[in-house]
Amino acid sequence: MPTTNKHFIHSKPSWLLIISLMVLLALAIGSCQPAETPIPPTDVPPPTPLPDQSAQLAAWESGDHNFYDIGHGPNTWCARCHSPQNWDPEAFRGPPPACFTCKFGHEEEMQVAEGNPFVSEEEWVGIPCMTCHVIAESGVVTEGIAWYDPIDGEYDAVRTVTELCEKCHVTTTGNAFGSAVTHKITLGGSAHLNYGGFLGDVPPPTVCSDCHDPHSLEPKACVDCHTDLHSAESPMTGMDAVMPSVTCMACHDASGADAGPHPDEDMGGIWVPVETTTSRGTTSTNYLLSHSIVAKVGCDKCHFEENVNGLTVLTAAGEIPPTPTPEPTPEPTPEGEATEEEGDG
Ligand code: HEC
Ligand code: HEC
Ligand code: HEC
Ligand code: HEC
Ligand code: HEC
Ligand code: HEC
Ligand code: HEC
Repeated sequence: MPTTNKHFIHSKPSWLLIISLMVLLALAIGSCQPAETPIPPTDVPPPTPLPDQSAQLAAWESGDHNFYDIGHGPNTWCARCHSPQNWDPEAFRGPPPACFTCKFGHEEEMQVAEGNPFVSEEEWVGIPCMTCHVIAESGVVTEGIAWYDPIDGEYDAVRTVTELCEKCHVTTTGNAFGSAVTHKITLGGSAHLNYGGFLGDVPPPTVCSDCHDPHSLEPKACVDCHTDLHSAESPMTGMDAVMPSVTCMACHDASGADAGPHPDEDMGGIWVPVETTTSRGTTSTNYLLSHSIVAKVGCDKCHFEENVNGLTVLTAAGEIPPTPTPEPTPEPTPEGEATEEEGDG
C-alpha cells in the first residue's frame, strides 16, 4: 500500500490546510455571532398574525373617498358614486326648484328634494374598503381588487385599476332618473400610453394607481419619476430660468388646449393648460386638468406671432422666425412679466 501511504503523506498539508481553515471559519463565525445575536423582536403581535393595513386605512381616512358634505349630494341618488351603499336605484330627480337634496354653492340652506331623500352623516357609508376589495372574515382586506356591486351585493371582477376607478369617474349622458355628471379622466397622448420606446425596467404609468395612491389619492408629481430632465441636445437647454413659470403640462399637454397664466390669481401667474368657453355671451377662461401627455412640444404653442403675453416670437423649433417682423420687439429684461392684462380674447 505504498501508494496509499504516499497519498497520505502527500495529503498531509491539505489536512492541515482544512483544519486551519476550519479554525479560521470558526473564529469568523464566532466573531460574527455577537453582532447577530440581538435579533430585535418584530413588532407584530404573535397571537394575531393578520397583515397590518393601518397604513392604507390612515391614507384612506385622509382622502376624498372618505367624505361627507351636505354640499356634495347627501342623498340616495347622488350616493350612487359618493356612497354606493346608500344608493337607491329607485331614487329620482325631484321636481324643480329642489331637484336634489343638497346645499349647492349659491344656496343658504340645504334644499330637500322629493325623490332622493337626505342621508345623514351617521348613515352615510362613503367609499369604504369593501367597495374595492373583498373583505376576509377576519375583517382584513384580501389581496387584489374587485368592484362591490351595491345592488346585488356581489363582487364583479375588474381587469384593470382604471376600470375600477371608472365605475364612478365617468361621464354619463344622463338617464330617465336624472342629470349627468362629467368626471371622466382621459389618459391620452403618446408619452405614457402605447409607448414602445422605453429602455429602462420601469414602464411608464398607464393606470390611475401608477400615479395616484389609491387610498390617499395623492398623485405623484412628474418630477418624482422624471428626475434627469431635458437632455443636453433638447431644445430646452438653457431654459432653467423659465421652468418655474411654466408647468410640465402647459408644454406637454396632448389635449390640444391652449396654455396661459393660471386664471386663479393666487397661483401667481404660473402657466397651465387653460380652456376658454363662452356661455350666454360671457367668456371665461378656466384651468384645464389634463391627463394626456405628449413628448413633442413646439415652442410656437406659446411663442406664436402676436401672442397677448408678450413672449418672444419663436418657431416650433425655437428659432427666431426669419420673416421680417414689422416691430423688432425690444426685450430689455429676460424675465418678462408672466401676467399682462392685455384682454382675454
Ligand atoms: C356617476 C358618478 C357620480 C354621481 C352620480 C355623482 N357624482 Fe359627484 N362626483 C363624482 C366623482 C368621481 C367626483 C370627483 C371628480 C373629480 O374631482 O374630478 C365627484 C365630485 C363631486 C363634487 C366635488 C367636486 C366638484 O366637481 O365640485 C361635488 C360637489 C359633487 N360631486 C356633487 C354631486 C351631486 C350633488 C350629485 C347628485 C346630483 C353627484 N355629485 C352625483 C361622481 C359622481
Ligand atoms: C377606490 C378603491 C379602493 C378603496 C376604497 C380601497 N382600496 Fe386598497 N387598493 C386599491 C387599489 C387600486 C390598490 C392597488 C392594487 C394594484 O395595484 O393592483 C389597493 C391596494 C391595497 C392593498 C395592497 C397593498 C398596497 O398598498 O398596494 C391593501 C393592503 C389595501 N389596498 C387595503 C385597503 C384598506 C384597508 C382599505 C380601506 C381603509 C382600502 N384598501 C380601500 C383600491 C382601493
Ligand atoms: C365608488 C365610486 C368611486 C370609485 C370606485 C373611485 N372614486 Fe375617486 N372619487 C369618487 C368621488 C364621489 C369623489 C369625490 C368625493 C367628494 O368630493 O365628495 C372622488 C374623488 C377622487 C379624487 C380627488 C378628486 C378631487 O377633486 O380632489 C381622486 C384623485 C380620485 N377620486 C381618484 C380615484 C382613483 C385613482 C380611483 C381608483 C383607484 C377612484 N378614485 C375610484 C368616487 C369614486
Ligand atoms: C401620469 C400620472 C397620472 C395618472 C396615470 C393619473 N393621474 Fe390623476 N392626476 C395626476 C396629477 C399630477 C394630478 C394633479 C393635477 C393638478 O393638480 O393640476 C391629478 C389629478 C387628478 C384628479 C383631480 C384631483 C383634484 O385635486 O382636482 C382626479 C379626479 C384624478 N387625477 C383622477 C385620475 C384617474 C381616475 C386616473 C385614471 C383614469 C388618473 N387620475 C390617472 C396624475 C395622474
Ligand atoms: C410613476 C412615474 C411617472 C410619472 C408620475 C410621470 N412619468 Fe412620464 N414617464 C415615465 C416613464 C417610466 C416613461 C418612459 C421612460 C422614459 O422614457 O423616461 C415616461 C415617459 C414620458 C415622456 C416621453 C419621453 C420620451 O422620451 O418620449 C414624457 C414627455 C413624459 N413621460 C412626461 C411626463 C409628465 C409631463 C408627467 C407629469 C404629468 C409625467 N411624465 C409623470 C414615468 C412617469
Ligand atoms: C417650456 C416647455 C416645456 C416645459 C415647461 C417642460 N418641457 Fe419637457 N420637453 C419640452 C421640449 C421642447 C422637449 C423636447 C421634445 C422633442 O423632442 O421634440 C421636452 C422633452 C421632455 C422629455 C423627453 C426626454 C428628455 O428629457 O429630453 C420628458 C420626459 C419631459 N420633457 C418631461 C418634462 C417634465 C417632467 C416637465 C416638468 C418638470 C417638463 N418636461 C417641462 C418642453 C417643455
Ligand atoms: C406652454 C407655453 C410655452 C412653451 C411651449 C414655450 N415657452 Fe418659452 N416661455 C413661456 C413663458 C410663460 C415665458 C416667460 C417666463 C417668465 O416670465 O419667467 C417664456 C420665456 C421664454 C424665454 C425668455 C424670453 C421671453 O420670451 O420671455 C425664452 C428664450 C423661451 N421662453 C424659449 C422657449 C423655447 C426655445 C421653447 C421651445 C423649446 C419655448 N420657450 C416653449 C412659455 C412657453
